[in-house]
Amino acid sequence: MQGLRKLESEIEADILSNMIRLARAAAANSHAPFSHFHVGASVLDDRGRIYTGCNVENIAFGLSMCAERNAAAAAVCGGARRLRAIAVYTAGESLTPPCGACRQVLSDFGPKMEVHLINHEGEHIIYPLDLLLPTGATAEVG
Ligand code: THU
Repeated sequence: MQGLRKLESEIEADILSNMIRLARAAAANSHAPFSHFHVGASVLDDRGRIYTGCNVENIAFGLSMCAERNAAAAAVCGGARRLRAIAVYTAGESLTPPCGACRQVLSDFGPKMEVHLINHEGEHIIYPLDLLLPTGATAEVG
């Protein structure tokens, strides 16, 4: 996967560092008593607004929700329809690409959005969403 990364971001550096800061703050609020895997995400819309989400687990495991989809839902609730980028932060060593379900949900709001993966060590890689979800359904909303 490393070989497939996109090297350049179209997001301004100060906005990107804000997104990363907010994704990290969201991870600190993650509710993960079962996996202990804390994930935070922030999404940037085409108006320059940033929305966040964290993973929220439930004793009925299937009801747990990923950080990425919670961030997308917060964005939609705030009036966003087109997303330029998502930053996904995990507190540990791993870089955490969105699961398949999150890729499909994100795709409705920006099939080519930048997907930034950041870990605690400050490692940072970028994939275009359409590389992570080839031939996904691409209906744009709004
Ligand atoms: N998780 C996310 O929030 N995002 C991902 O991209 C991968 C997994 C969450 C779901 C669950 O709460 C925990 O991480 C372990 O899978």
